[in-house]
Amino acid sequence: MTPDAVTMDKIVSLCKRRGFIFQSSEIYGGLASTYDYGHYGVLLKSNVKSEWWRSNVQQRDDMVALDAAILMHPRTWEASGHLEGFTDPLVQCLGECKRRWRADHLREAQPEGELKCPVCGGELSEPRNFNLMFETHMGPVQDEGSRIYLRPETAQGIFVNFKNVMQFARKKPPFGIAQVGKSFRNEITPGNFIFRTREFEQMEIEFFVAPATAGEWHGRWMEDRMRWYTDLGLRADHLQLREHGPEELSHYSSATSDIEYLFPMGWSELEGIANRGDFDLSQHAEYSREKMDFVDPGTGERYVPHVIEPSAGADRGTLAFMVDAYDEEQVEGRERVVLRFHPRLAPVKVAVLPLVNKDGQPELAREVYEDLRARMSAEFDTGGSIGKRYRRQDEIGTPWGVTVDHQTMEDRTVTLRDRDTLDQTRIAIGEVGDELQRRLAAPWRSPKLD
Ligand code: GAP
Repeated sequence: MTPDAVTMDKIVSLCKRRGFIFQSSEIYGGLASTYDYGHYGVLLKSNVKSEWWRSNVQQRDDMVALDAAILMHPRTWEASGHLEGFTDPLVQCLGECKRRWRADHLREAQPEGELKCPVCGGELSEPRNFNLMFETHMGPVQDEGSRIYLRPETAQGIFVNFKNVMQFARKKPPFGIAQVGKSFRNEITPGNFIFRTREFEQMEIEFFVAPATAGEWHGRWMEDRMRWYTDLGLRADHLQLREHGPEELSHYSSATSDIEYLFPMGWSELEGIANRGDFDLSQHAEYSREKMDFVDPGTGERYVPHVIEPSAGADRGTLAFMVDAYDEEQVEGRERVVLRFHPRLAPVKVAVLPLVNKDGQPELAREVYEDLRARMSAEFDTGGSIGKRYRRQDEIGTPWGVTVDHQTMEDRTVTLRDRDTLDQTRIAIGEVGDELQRRLAAPWRSPKLD
């Protein structure tokens, strides 16, 4: 196995250098912990989300999709408990630096004695419960009655639509509703690049089941979700399931396990898989006076479904896939930085490169490129030496390169280069598309394991 060379600084700098992700509002000095995705970042995150849709909706019979609004009726947040309980314990340094911290995070680093400011050693204020929801106002008048919130989780959009969806989709438990969308939290201590930000995307499933089967479904979802990450190339020894202790459980959860990934700053949450019981549907039934129960047509049994919730972060997932893919090696005396993405996640699948920029090669290469881009994300690059172009493609994780050279002009074969093995094989132009599609569909294993 290649020793891990990755650090968060290297990821941040590669993201900026290649235009994956950069500071938001940079021309005004940037907005703290807020990031914009450039071309390759958009393609990568969109591939992460597509793989999530593919595995959780397209390949299942028991799941339907939803796209609920970000702005919701304010009663939603009373019913869900977020107005009352979605808080973090905020402490402020009373010494020199006056910084703000999360008391629970400080306690992990300082298990004994009185908490101190980790920067200047100053005393800290008493913890105050700080609500993480962003407030705004709907309409022209800014008063108590117009106050609404940016959703802090996509989940509630699913719960309030439970009855609607069940009827339209003609589903009955066990079935799930899947949604991807933006959520907002006024985090006290965002950080670690896109790991914890105030605006982020979630990929959430609420899976509705008969109460007696909730424990079994919780176990099944933990297995399924772990497999999703390893199938997409994350190394299994960099993933773990960690069960929450009673003091850590959210207000709605009777059991939660986190899928954690070994990020450069240590093991940290990638996805939470909670057993929410009937908390949400019962609360919404009480606050809206709409019935949320289900009557089994077979047995006549009436119950409020229990919910298993696999809740993943699209940005956090994207970061984990980048960290896991990052590699450095020496090739012919030069350092090569390469992102060894699973080919299905790679922003660009194939780069088509004429060896020289003359003798009809660029024109033929362009034809090859146009054929390929009808089937997959492809790039055509004529700029700079071939070595430089390969290095550029390696850094964005392009799994295959197709080189058009003088031999192509004679026999219509091209060189197909593999990002990981660096093998170069000759193949007829007419076969390249099928060959790459076959490789895209094949199982894949991270070469960092070898
Ligand atoms: N509906 C349940 C829920 O929201 P959560 O554990 O608070 O549970 C689920 O969030 C996932 O959303 C996390 O595992 C993480 O991947 C992502 N997430 C949460 N807060 C985030 C933040 N501030 N920045 C980026 N991703 C975040």
